[in-house]
Amino acid sequence: MVLDQDIGLNGTLFGGDMMARMDMVAGITASLMSRNRRFVTVKVSELIFHSPVRPGEIIEFYATVTHQGRTSLSIQIEVQVYAPVTDTHRDVTSGGFVMVAVDAAGGAEPILWKAEMVAEASAMHRVRKARQDEPGRKNQG
Ligand SMILES: CC(C)(COP(=O)(O)OP(=O)(O)OC[C@H]1O[C@@H](n2cnc3c(N)ncnc32)[C@H](O)[C@@H]1OP(=O)(O)O)[C@@H](O)C(=O)NCCC(=O)NCCS
Repeated sequence: MVLDQDIGLNGTLFGGDMMARMDMVAGITASLMSRNRRFVTVKVSELIFHSPVRPGEIIEFYATVTHQGRTSLSIQIEVQVYAPVTDTHRDVTSGGFVMVAVDAAGGAEPILWKAEMVAEASAMHRVRKARQDEPGRKNQG
């Protein structure tokens, strides 16, 4: 949940805070999908702030692996907020992250995929997309 302490001068969440949270989610996603110990961010693209985030809203991160490379993976992150007071969801931010598995010396190393996790994540993604497309879902975004 976004707290008063997270809020900047405009009364909304600071963009850099959201970027850091998304980068963290990208790293966690990469770790969940593999047996590698370390990942670094090599590229961030198309970061779009669709709508401001306000205190009291609950941030939801949805990560999709869009490309599985040899030492890298591409992850698309869609961020929504859920406002409990109005019981609505809203799209707030989206962006692409490329994460690279690195060894102890910081050099790129092959990704050791957890195939079952990748399959489970894409199945969950399909379910979420189907739910999103359901008529009557409350989404102001
Ligand atoms: C990530 C890093 C180790 C890659 O080193 P590198 O010498 O470019 O390594 P490689 O050329 O072998 O590339 C490794 C992978 O990264 C991908 N990659 C490298 N540069 C890329 C870019 N600009 N965009 C997309 N992918 C890129 C390559 O395609 C490759 O993926 P693949 O094996 O799946 O095909 C190095 O660039 C680095 O340490 N960058 C800093 C990372 C960091 O500190 N991030 C935090 C920012 S504060």
